[in-house]
Amino acid sequence: MANYRAAMIGLSWIATDPPPPAPDPVLGTSTPYSHAAALAAIPNVDVVAGCDIVPGLRDQFVERWGSRWPGVRTYDDYAEMLAAVKPDVVTIATPDFLHADPFIAAVEAGARGIFVEKPFATSLEDATRMVEAARARKVVVNVDTQRRFSPYHAASHAFVQQGKLGKLSQIMVEIGGERALLWRNHAHAVDQMVYFADSDPAWVMGELEPGFEDYGTEYRGDGGRSIETEPGANYYVAFRNGVRGYLTGMKDTMPGIMVTLRGPDGRLSLDDEGASVTVIKLIGHGAQAEWSKPRTERISPEYTVAGMEAGIRDMLAGIETGRRTASPAEHAWRSVAIIDAVVRSAADGNRPATIAPPPWAAPG
Ligand SMILES: NC(=O)c1ccc[n+]([C@@H]2O[C@H](COP(=O)([O-])OP(=O)(O)OC[C@H]3O[C@@H](n4cnc5c(N)ncnc54)[C@H](O)[C@@H]3O)[C@@H](O)[C@H]2O)c1
Repeated sequence: MANYRAAMIGLSWIATDPPPPAPDPVLGTSTPYSHAAALAAIPNVDVVAGCDIVPGLRDQFVERWGSRWPGVRTYDDYAEMLAAVKPDVVTIATPDFLHADPFIAAVEAGARGIFVEKPFATSLEDATRMVEAARARKVVVNVDTQRRFSPYHAASHAFVQQGKLGKLSQIMVEIGGERALLWRNHAHAVDQMVYFADSDPAWVMGELEPGFEDYGTEYRGDGGRSIETEPGANYYVAFRNGVRGYLTGMKDTMPGIMVTLRGPDGRLSLDDEGASVTVIKLIGHGAQAEWSKPRTERISPEYTVAGMEAGIRDMLAGIETGRRTASPAEHAWRSVAIIDAVVRSAADGNRPATIAPPPWAAPG
């Protein structure tokens, strides 16, 4: 197993929080919920440097993680850090609108893998140049829309891919609560639609939260700090493979992300607490045909690694074996393209906004 030298860009809580205490010292584990805690759980990764523009966060990073990675250095300029340490892998947790430049700098500095926070980008132009840069240098990317690294979500995805609902047709996604911000938090919800649809989006109809009628078509957020700078939204997405997605995402509804998937043979319900599936079959043909009794069962995953640790391990596996990651850049581009089309549709009187196919073929 190769050893990897890692560098981290952005050192706020999501990058450096210590791992939560394990519920049981022997049996219990808590899923690490920061980039550093996830990296620390992987023995063959050595974090050699971290960068933030805030001095106190650089000091806190060394206090928290210096004993795990003795000799870790800090920088206030990521370009300088990348040139000095030439990392194999880079993690990025800068503000929502500031992922593209450090991402491309990491690609150009020779990184072989990048683990980058959601939203992948807040403009389609940024997302496109990120994908093109990574593809040109064959950099393995995993985007931290971490439900893709959740055992329930991965098991549900496998269930659908095996055709157990029949051909997936409709996807309903719900997100709510006052932090249902179109770029910041919808990134997770729309990614669920993209994850299960498995196709490029073709067109979108969208409606923004009341009060945002004149929002325009550009991101005007402040990195998710104030809820007034990003609207909630409802939208309808037509994917090129015929799958249709509905997303209800206004702020005046309960928080949480829930997904319902429907095909001819069943319905799968999924949230952060678990997943269950109801299967129903048409038995026989014509006038003699009868529906089977609906059968509902929980989906019980069999994975042992989850969350960011799984996402980073998955990126390393991509480097070593060439296999596709669970959350590749081309899929994150689809989410950015959908959100871009939502605001274009809303600005155009809720008419459908088309999405041109990307210049690449997404990994299947
Ligand atoms: N996957 C998840 O569940 C999850 C959860 C929380 C946050 N996030 C994402 O993580 C990212 C960071 O979130 P946040 O709330 O900590 O954001 P933030 O606005 O606090 O920024 C993160 C850090 O980046 C630093 N920074 C800004 N410019 C920099 C630069 N040029 N070079 C180096 N560092 C720089 C800031 O000082 C800050 O410490 C966001 O994109 C957010 O959406 C994801």
